[in-house]
Amino acid sequence: MTINRIKIFATLALVLPVLALMISYRTTPVSAVTLTVSDPAEVFKAKCAMCHSPKAEKLYNPALPQEEQIEAILKGKKGEKPPNMPAFEPKGMTADDAKALVEYMQGLRKPAS
Ligand code: HEC
Repeated sequence: MTINRIKIFATLALVLPVLALMISYRTTPVSAVTLTVSDPAEVFKAKCAMCHSPKAEKLYNPALPQEEQIEAILKGKKGEKPPNMPAFEPKGMTADDAKALVEYMQGLRKPAS
C-alpha cells in the first residue's frame, strides 16, 4: 500500500460517517414530524391500536355518525375513565385524514357486526 492510498482511505473513513450523518439528519425529522395519512392502516397501528386494539374493538362505537367520529379524532373525546381520546388536530391531522381513519376503523369492525 502506498502512502497515497493510505491517505485516500483515511479521508474516506472520516468523510463517509459525516455524510451518512448528514443524510440521516435530513431525512428522519421529516417523517417523524408530519402526520399525513397516506396509509390509514399504518397510522392506526402506530397511533391508535394501543387504546382501540388492533381490530378497533375497544372504546369505539362504529355506529356513531361519521361527523361525530371525525370530531372525536380532531378534537379529542373524554371516555368513561382515563385514558381519554387525545386530540389529533394539533398534531397536524386534517379532516380528510380523520375521515380515512374512521372508514378504516368501520371496515375493521364490519365482519364482526
Ligand atoms: C389514549 C388512548 C387513545 C388513543 C391513543 C386513541 N384513542 Fe380514540 N378514543 C379513546 C377514548 C377513551 C374514546 C372515547 C370512547 C367513549 O366514547 O367512551 C375514543 C373515541 C374515539 C372515536 C369516537 C368513537 C367513539 O365510540 O367514541 C374515534 C373515531 C376514535 N377514538 C378514533 C381514534 C383514532 C383514529 C386514533 C388514532 C389516530 C385514536 N382514536 C387514538 C382513546 C384513545
